[in-house]
Amino acid sequence: MHLHKYEKWWLVFGCGTLVAFLIILGIGAFHNGTHPNNSKKTINYEKVNEIAPFNNPGIHKVKGKEWDYEVVIVASAFYYDPPVIEVPLGAKVKFIATTKDVIHGFQAAGTNINMMLEPGYISEYVAEMNQAGEYLIVCNEYCGTGHTAMHSMLKVVNENATESH
Ligand code: CUA
Repeated sequence: MHLHKYEKWWLVFGCGTLVAFLIILGIGAFHNGTHPNNSKKTINYEKVNEIAPFNNPGIHKVKGKEWDYEVVIVASAFYYDPPVIEVPLGAKVKFIATTKDVIHGFQAAGTNINMMLEPGYISEYVAEMNQAGEYLIVCNEYCGTGHTAMHSMLKVVNENATESH
């Protein structure tokens, strides 16, 4: 089989870039330990329901920490526990989340809150709730047939607002 000179160069270039990118990816993953953003804390995903704080999902007011509230979230196909999160305006909130089964996402649309929830890992994110409103929480990792129905709501409530009007 005869290959044109330019075609050979192009094949070498194509294969070469593939190999180069795989090497870069490999160094990043195995040598530098690049990993989706999480707290580096691990958990036995089969026993999430028994392990603190995930044995008590919900919104918890805390004292003596850098944040005012801890929101503990357990994701599983295809819902979040708790289904609705309500926090007061101005609160500093630490979101602590994990999954009981497959990879899920946890993204509050219109905010910087966007975590990948991986089986066996705990994802954490601290955010200040400085804009009142309702933010749709969506799963942004394809997780199965119920993926599109997997959502929740983050409500940031101004408790000082007068209800007279
Ligand atoms: Cu959970 Cu997609």
